[in-house]
Amino acid sequence: HLCDRRQRQMCIRDRYMKERILVTGGTGYIGSHTVVELQNSGYEVIIIDNLSNSSADVVDNIEKVSGIRPAFEKLDCLDFAGLDAVFAKYKGIKAIIHFAASKAVGESVEKPLLYYRNNLVSLINLLELMPKHGVEGIVFSSSCTVYGQPDELPVTEKAPIKKAESPYGNTKQINEEIIRDTVASGAPINAIMLRYFNPIGAHPTALLGELPNGVPQNLIPYLTQTAIGIREKLSVFGDDYDTPDGTGVRDYIHVVDLAKGHVNAIQKAVSAEGVNIYNLGTGNGYSVLDIVKAFEAANGVKIPYTIKPRRAGDIATCYADPKKAKEELGWEAQYDLKRMCEDSWRYAQMCEK
Ligand code: UD1
Repeated sequence: HLCDRRQRQMCIRDRYMKERILVTGGTGYIGSHTVVELQNSGYEVIIIDNLSNSSADVVDNIEKVSGIRPAFEKLDCLDFAGLDAVFAKYKGIKAIIHFAASKAVGESVEKPLLYYRNNLVSLINLLELMPKHGVEGIVFSSSCTVYGQPDELPVTEKAPIKKAESPYGNTKQINEEIIRDTVASGAPINAIMLRYFNPIGAHPTALLGELPNGVPQNLIPYLTQTAIGIREKLSVFGDDYDTPDGTGVRDYIHVVDLAKGHVNAIQKAVSAEGVNIYNLGTGNGYSVLDIVKAFEAANGVKIPYTIKPRRAGDIATCYADPKKAKEELGWEAQYDLKRMCEDSWRYAQMCEK
């Protein structure tokens, strides 16, 4: 009888009480899309972000998209006492999705200590505070960069980790190890590490996307700025790779698909013991010139480009085997390249208005 009652109460709780999820870096590009998908799935979201590479307006736009205003605390994850206070203020946080990090490859080469401090200490602070506040799960933003140039393609989660090409890439590898060692030490923490391939696109409403910030380093922001006329020509870095057209091949994934993968991962993080790793990619590889052509066809614009030498640290080809995420998380990317190009272009045009 008592058991029945408890079960009924649990059922009511599940139905009416939303689980609290803390999203660090929740006003960033992937973070903001993930907040919306969490809200759409019934989670209550608390964002912390230091706004170093985003804007507080993103909180308004999240509310416009989902109809729900997430709690927002402007805070740096290096601030241990500040984090402690956030966990105390929002009691009962079930899990964390940790996006907050510095992510520019070139900058990390120039300022390695900034990258090591920001990216490593932020994670350490969260892991130290989780047991104290009874937070069970963490989802960590890792990257396919940990595979370097994989020996076998498509790349599975079992592929060996290659020596990092940059301090940024190294912080992803070290953070994965920090998580593994912490869980192995017996800390009451379940962890999911998500290795992202190349997120592009934007929210279909054009209210969320990757905010332009200086000269873009990644392909799609540079390409959209070229289409708009801010940049004269796209530089294609290398046409002598061992790929069908000689240009680099990557697994581009729509940011909304990537965001949805986090909702599935959160469900897993609170139930599965230990550490689990998943690739989040589509399984399709496209070259730089494929992307240029697809973008031109999808949006009816012309992208002037010129072939330049290879960029230091770049690899020829990388695309995911996404089977494990499908089988264990029940997640699979839905959007095709045309849609990624359309949504990237709609958002870029919005930003220029
Ligand atoms: C880069 C990072 C990776 C990080 C990811 C985050 C490097 C070496 N890797 O991935 O660690 O996780 O961003 O989004 O920087 N390209 C051009 N012209 C450009 C820009 C890019 O031809 O102006 C080419 C590149 O050579 C590459 C492809 O486009 O073949 C994709 O480049 P990019 O968007 O920078 O992503 P990655 O280098 O794959």
